[in-house]
Amino acid sequence: MSLENVIRESAARLDEAGVWCGHGTDNVLDEAAWLVLHALGLPPDQAPDYAQWVGQRELALARGLIEERIAKRVPAAYLTGTAWFCGHAFKSDARALVPRSPLAELIQADFSPWLDDPRVGRALDLCTGGGCIAISLAHHFEHCVVDATDLSPEALELATENVALHGLQGRVNLFEGDLFSPVKGQRYDLIVSNPPYVNAGDLALMPDEYLAEPAMGLGSGQDGLDITRRILAQATSQLTPEGLLVVEVGASMADAEAAFADLPLTWIDLSLGGEGVFVINAADLEAAQHAH
Ligand SMILES: C[S@@+](CC[C@H](N)C(=O)[O-])C[C@H]1O[C@@H](n2cnc3c(N)ncnc32)[C@H](O)[C@@H]1O
Repeated sequence: MSLENVIRESAARLDEAGVWCGHGTDNVLDEAAWLVLHALGLPPDQAPDYAQWVGQRELALARGLIEERIAKRVPAAYLTGTAWFCGHAFKSDARALVPRSPLAELIQADFSPWLDDPRVGRALDLCTGGGCIAISLAHHFEHCVVDATDLSPEALELATENVALHGLQGRVNLFEGDLFSPVKGQRYDLIVSNPPYVNAGDLALMPDEYLAEPAMGLGSGQDGLDITRRILAQATSQLTPEGLLVVEVGASMADAEAAFADLPLTWIDLSLGGEGVFVINAADLEAAQHAH
């Protein structure tokens, strides 16, 4: 069978089995291509020769991985061990959420036009999970030192492995603890967070693939905004005067617009997908909070 037909057959099988795609792909054809290329040992970031012949042994490997995806209902990244974010490969497993934040698009665009000076000296990634945002910040802003915090020791174990994989020990510092508490008293030019933001209603309805991820990474109280409320309340004392806060709240955007109507948040038009990312600078945040 040709590689193209193996991928098409696999996509049809994933579709028929009703798997959920939302962890790096948004359709069964891409999900099938990712898994089949992995099973065949082909690089995921180079266009393959779709006409190439796939022998019986490789076909069995590919079909086996597709059936494992269906039976276990876990994200493809947990089966392949790798996820891609901001153009970089990261180790991915059940210790942390699969990287998929639309914040990648902002990093690649220098947070322009919201960040006055793209020469970021110090950045903080709150709720870093496996470290993909912190590491991508360090790659992108080459003189920047990045601190990153997370409450989960398991996620930080994975982040430590990813920092080593990227050779960024010394430029990405990982801290275990609740939000800002491990870095109290420090000031940052840029604070970025993809915190848990799923509301209780959505959490109860999530497809199985999300249940394979650590629960601590998803839910954030009844309206999904418990953590974001605390980030907004504490951020001014951790930002430099010219600093910028960037937070993702995803599908909780409408609730956040209502809950934080007294803050001049700027909601970003994302061109590569995703929703619910706001920015606010230190001066505006402080002024709005003083006024109340
Ligand atoms: C949505 S995941 C994001 C992970 C990563 N930043 C990414 O984009 O892939 C949220 C992360 O927040 C962490 N977390 C939850 N509550 C926290 C808290 N109070 N303080 C610090 N981290 C927390 C979870 O362990 C999880 O790793």
